[in-house]
Amino acid sequence: MNILLLGSGGREHALAWKMDQSPLCSKLFIAPGNAGTRLCGTNVDINISDFNAVAGFVAENNVQMVVVGPEDPLVNGITDFLKQDEKTRGVMVIGPDKAGATLEGSKEFAKEFMTKYNIPTAAYKSFTAESYEEGVDFLETLKPPYVLKADGLAAGKGVVIVNSLDGAIDTLKQMLKNKAFGKASEKVVIEEFLQGIEVSVFVATDGKNWILLPEAKDYKRIGEGDTGPNTGGMGAVSPVPFADTNFLEKVKTRIIQPTIDGLNKEHITYKGFIFVGLMSVNGDPYVIEYNVRMGDPETEVVVPRINSDLVEMMQHMSLGTLNEYIPVFCPEFAVTVMLVSGGYPGNYEKGLEISGLDAVEGSQLFFAGAIGKDEKTVTSGGRVIAVTSMHSSMEKAIRMSMENAEKITFSNKFFRKDIGKDLKN
Ligand code: AMP
Ligand code: GLY
Repeated sequence: MNILLLGSGGREHALAWKMDQSPLCSKLFIAPGNAGTRLCGTNVDINISDFNAVAGFVAENNVQMVVVGPEDPLVNGITDFLKQDEKTRGVMVIGPDKAGATLEGSKEFAKEFMTKYNIPTAAYKSFTAESYEEGVDFLETLKPPYVLKADGLAAGKGVVIVNSLDGAIDTLKQMLKNKAFGKASEKVVIEEFLQGIEVSVFVATDGKNWILLPEAKDYKRIGEGDTGPNTGGMGAVSPVPFADTNFLEKVKTRIIQPTIDGLNKEHITYKGFIFVGLMSVNGDPYVIEYNVRMGDPETEVVVPRINSDLVEMMQHMSLGTLNEYIPVFCPEFAVTVMLVSGGYPGNYEKGLEISGLDAVEGSQLFFAGAIGKDEKTVTSGGRVIAVTSMHSSMEKAIRMSMENAEKITFSNKFFRKDIGKDLKN
């Protein structure tokens, strides 16, 4: 079948790399794609926010499956659009419809959903500009640190954690009254701070049946030792040693099954991936957030650990027959290290020439903010290339990624050298 994958990051390169290996995949198109996806299929220059253009391309190119990488089109209803448009009605779409995508599109909705279905999460209340004073009163009842979350999508920057009460009140004011995150912070969720260690799990579902994919830990801060501002992700490791069978069993029974049951009770059709950000508090899992797509850079360690056919899995997700699919995962460690442009996550240069790619040995490169320009590969974003390595020893996998990360060069390249070092093998 012909497949169209939407997106342009390292996640999409990893998905395209795996999908291209499937005997079920005839032509693979990636919109808009990047320097990596063009090695796996054909990059097509369409704006993925223009659903009409996407539907037109699907119809003209006999595309039978659309896989949606990022959250924005999902939250804006691309799945509903493709299902309703007469040109694309029968096409398989991997990604929830708009109602399902609200799990990521609105933090308040996600919290209400978890409360309703008894899914463990931090205690919370939500506020608007009108209830700002009550928000201040609520903050006064909490202990520091204070966690404030913009309700809507804010490109991964909508969560603010503040140590002082004054700082928290000021942040609440900035969010609600000064619209620090625009429309996204018209509502703010204030929640209890959870002390623990984070891990993310990934679920593939057809709406009824589900499969737990390999878990991962990502490294969000720019600086070593988890310091400095948040980024899209500086690296990831899978499997995560502390997420043992006992912990994952709790995740399945307390979180995943109730989530799928809740979606059904809400009559939400969900054929896609659910990425559950968890905090392990003394060995008990609590949900920090739902995302309605795979993570980036988590996909760059999760997908290489899937030995079975990903396209076959997606086909089962769409047809509602995921119970017939037998997933096979690789037991080895996968470690990815993200090379970023100096200045990221603040201002950084683009268009920098990347060299040293041919010197890489033993790692798989997943391109993120990198595009092909004539014969060259140049940077086009802050996160540039994910260097993934696999080995039965986590230390060895880390070392392979670090060594190859050194070999790739572009002006002001930066990467964290402590990825995975906090985890014990
Ligand atoms: P994100 O939603 O990806 O921007 O993540 C924000 C980060 O804030 C998470 O990865 C956690 O590290 C942290 N965080 C979010 N909610 C809580 C909470 N209730 N308690 C402690 N840390 C939190
Ligand atoms: N790595 C976090 C995310 O994809 O949202």
